[in-house]
Amino acid sequence: MTPKISFRDVVKSFPVKGGSFTALNGASLDIADEEFVTVVGPSGCGKSTLLSMAAGLVEPTAGEVLVDGEHVRGPGPDRGVIFQQYALFPWLTVRKNVEFGLRLADLPPGERTRRAEHAIELVGLTEFADALPKTLSGGMKQRCAIARAYAVDPAVLLMDEPFGALDALTRVQLQDQLLRTWSQDRRTVLFITHDVDEAVYLARRVVVMAARPGRIHTVIDVDLPYPRTEEIRLSPEFGRIRNEVWHSVYHQAAPLPT
Ligand SMILES: Nc1ncnc2c1ncn2[C@@H]1O[C@H](COP(=O)(O)OP(=O)(O)OP(=O)(O)O)[C@@H](O)[C@H]1O
Ligand SMILES: [Mg+2]
Repeated sequence: MTPKISFRDVVKSFPVKGGSFTALNGASLDIADEEFVTVVGPSGCGKSTLLSMAAGLVEPTAGEVLVDGEHVRGPGPDRGVIFQQYALFPWLTVRKNVEFGLRLADLPPGERTRRAEHAIELVGLTEFADALPKTLSGGMKQRCAIARAYAVDPAVLLMDEPFGALDALTRVQLQDQLLRTWSQDRRTVLFITHDVDEAVYLARRVVVMAARPGRIHTVIDVDLPYPRTEEIRLSPEFGRIRNEVWHSVYHQAAPLPT
C-alpha cells in the first residue's frame, strides 16, 4: 500500500554566511495511512523542518517528500498544520479565526458555522467564541489554533509541539481528545513534541531524531493498545518504552557547557 507520507533521502540545507548549513541530512521515513507518529529529538535537529516539508512550506534541497504517492508542491486542504507558535489573526475573534481555515472549502451555507462551532467545542472554547485573541491566555490561543485545524477536517494533521505551551492538565485533556478524534476520523498524524511521555502516550511509532547533522536516529514501536488510558500510562510496559525513547534522545544530545 502507498504510504500516506513518504520522506525519501530528504536533505535540507539553508544558505548561511560563507556557505550552507545542513539542517537535515538524508531523512527517510514512511508513514502509513491512519498512523499516529510522534517525533522527538534535541532542539535544532530538524523536526520543524521535516514537518514543514510535508506541509509544503519548505522545499527539500535533495530527495523527495510524497503525500499519497505525489510530490508535495505546496500547502493543501488535505493537510492541516498546527505551528509551534500559535498563529492567529489578532483582529479576528476565536470564531472568525476558526472559520478562516474553512475559507477555501466549498461548503454549503451554515456548514461553515456548524463546523467551526463543533471544533471550538472540542477544544473547550465555546464560551470564548466571540473573544479576540489578545483577551485569551497562551493556552487558549493555542487551543484556538488547534480548533482551526480540526475544523478543516484534513486527512493529515501536522502538529508542531501543539501542546508545548499548555499547563499539564489541559495538555493531558487535549491529548485524550486528540486520540478520540483520531480514532473516530482515522486521520494520519505527524506530531512533534519535546515531551517523551507525550510522544509514547500518543503514538504507534516514535521517531527519535539526532542533531549535527539533523537526521533520524531511530524509530521505536509503541506496542500498546488503543484506546490509551491512564492505566496504560502507568503500566510497566509504558515505562519501559518511555525509558527506551528517553535513553535514545538523551545519549545523543550534546552536553551544555558547565
Ligand atoms: N530558514 C532557515 N534559515 C537558516 N537556518 C534554518 C532555517 N530554518 C531552520 N534552520 C536551522 O535548521 C536547524 C533545524 O531547525 P528546526 O527548526 O527544524 O529544528 P527543531 O528540531 O524544530 O528545533 P526546536 O526543537 O528547537 O523547535 C536549526 O539549526 C535551525 O537554525
Ligand atoms: Mg521546532
